[in-house]
Amino acid sequence: MKKQLIILGIETSCDETAASVVRGVGDKVEVLSNVVSSQIEIHKKYGGVVPEVAAREHVLNILPVVNEALAKAGIKSPLPSLGELGTGSLLKGAKKIDAIAVTVGPGLVTSLLVGVETAKTLAYAWGSPVVAVNHIEGHIYANWLRPISEIFNFQFSISKRIQNTKYKIQDKIKFPAIILTVSGGHTMLVLMSGHGKYRVLGETRDDAAGEAFDKAAQLLGLGYPGGPAVAAEAVKARGKKLKDISLPRPMINSGDYDFSFSGLKTALWYAIQRDKIWKKRISGYAYEFEQAAVEVLVSKIVKAARDFNCQTIMLSGGVAANLELRNQLAQAVKNRLDGAKLIIPEFKYCTDNAAMIAAAGYFRAKRKDFTPWQKLKTEPNKEFI
Ligand code: KG4
Ligand code: ZN
Repeated sequence: MKKQLIILGIETSCDETAASVVRGVGDKVEVLSNVVSSQIEIHKKYGGVVPEVAAREHVLNILPVVNEALAKAGIKSPLPSLGELGTGSLLKGAKKIDAIAVTVGPGLVTSLLVGVETAKTLAYAWGSPVVAVNHIEGHIYANWLRPISEIFNFQFSISKRIQNTKYKIQDKIKFPAIILTVSGGHTMLVLMSGHGKYRVLGETRDDAAGEAFDKAAQLLGLGYPGGPAVAAEAVKARGKKLKDISLPRPMINSGDYDFSFSGLKTALWYAIQRDKIWKKRISGYAYEFEQAAVEVLVSKIVKAARDFNCQTIMLSGGVAANLELRNQLAQAVKNRLDGAKLIIPEFKYCTDNAAMIAAAGYFRAKRKDFTPWQKLKTEPNKEFI
């Protein structure tokens, strides 16, 4: 029988307090529980994440969130409440968890500390090994997450399509794979030649794509977080003629895999300064901005996939929730990357969560890539492995 590993994942790198339990067997990861406590409403009034506020919220949320994740996964010994902390009940959780995976960076140091200290404490109390996980690696592994029912449905829908297309059923993700991680903090194109084998092909030279969406939303008065707001506004202009609204596609023909989004945001700013009636055409500007960002992202993914002969294309990070990006990429893979397979995580696994951290942790735990809890530390500025 194949050995299974049960992993508890913990994520506190930014403004989501998250915990999850996954079961990994072979190349498959099944989500047993996935709990996310979002602080979006709290940070909304400041127009962005306030680090001190985020850290304080993590401290308040972390034990209830871990507790809920354990309970939902059917692990009977939830952590005691703060009032009844005692090692006796803590120790009962130990037997079911094979390893604790925690995000060590990159991120806000005060936020990361809450997750890391929690993982250390549980590792000490349970005697469980710890896996240090990079947040970007976590986003990448969101592509391995499928509840059992979804694995079935996914294969079912592919097998229906197989009759008249070239799709092949693959339950294993084939390497080499190309992954675009696009979030509020990162825009990175990674070539993956195997588990844990990465080469960063390119990244943003200035703003992350999500950050650019957030700033564009601010310029257009659309609120926070900006990505979903810009996307919702852009839909209203679809199919309409956008007279005199045109933004650049930065670095689209640069010949490399890097990105730059700060010029796009500045171009939007100048464009609305020049346009006396821009407030009547907000959806037009949102549409053009989204098109510009998406076209650049898709073109670089396609270039990288061709250059490195990739069999699998994957998306991850908060901006992967963008429907226009998903649709244009799906079209491009179908029309321009014959035979390649596109994988996009479910919406809830695109934005920050702990299931993706547990999944990355599972593949590291399989390789026995553990860190003694005494040596575990935050790595707030370490971009990637
Ligand atoms: O991965 P994530 O939850 O957190 C970070 O690690 O940054 O990503 C959040 C980012 C935000 O910038 C948000 O505006 C963007 O993802 N985002 C979107 C959409 N949904 C979230 N951007 C474009 N379109 C969306 N639908
Ligand atoms: Zn993230």
